[in-house]
Amino acid sequence: MPAPAPFDYPIDQVKGFLDPAEGEALYNAAYDAAPFGPILEVGSYCGKSTVYLGKAAAQQNGQVYALDHHRGSEEHQRGEGYHDPELFDNEIERMDSLPYFRRAIFRAGLEGTVVPLVADSGTMARFWQTPLAMLFIDGGHSLEQALTDWRSWAHHVRVGGTLCIHDIFENPDEGGQAPYTIYKHAIASGLFEDVARVKTLGVLRRV
Ligand SMILES: C[S@@+](CC[C@H](N)C(=O)[O-])C[C@H]1O[C@@H](n2cnc3c(N)ncnc32)[C@H](O)[C@@H]1O
Repeated sequence: MPAPAPFDYPIDQVKGFLDPAEGEALYNAAYDAAPFGPILEVGSYCGKSTVYLGKAAAQQNGQVYALDHHRGSEEHQRGEGYHDPELFDNEIERMDSLPYFRRAIFRAGLEGTVVPLVADSGTMARFWQTPLAMLFIDGGHSLEQALTDWRSWAHHVRVGGTLCIHDIFENPDEGGQAPYTIYKHAIASGLFEDVARVKTLGVLRRV
């Protein structure tokens, strides 16, 4: 039996990859972080994690930046394991999750809380200067992209702020290793300490 969502919204109707227990952990972390500054997520897809973050932030009069180029990760492309033909724009032959994302944010009543950033993660970060109360990394899972996300965004997390990383698998037989690699970077850097693990979601704090 999955944990109930901590708010009244049919979250299971939003396409996505987040376990309800992970979503609730994200919600709780966002609720605590939101009074101290903006929350930024890398990798929104159709908005499932964004709704958890946004619902928590809205209660605190906070704000969520939801960053995604909406062209899908490697595994979402045509012919790959997580391809969803409903998200394919046949006219330009590219993935496009943005309409689904916008619908989810509208239905959740979060257009005043969630600011979509439709861009490549590394490009968006180039001139970013705002400290973050919370960063959630769930973007591309190639090693190159995960490292780009880590290098681009982690240093913006304010002292005492939260870093969450999704899809951490210690065992390579269970999943790709890129998120686990940046999790290990975060600990080894001395900038973050481990706070909690909920399924594949790692929660860390900036020290
Ligand atoms: C695993 S999905 C995110 C799932 C989402 N957090 C959820 O709860 O359902 C990864 C997302 O990262 C996005 N992405 C991959 N590489 C990216 C990049 N370089 N810049 C921006 N977004 C990227 C993809 O478009 C995809 O929507």
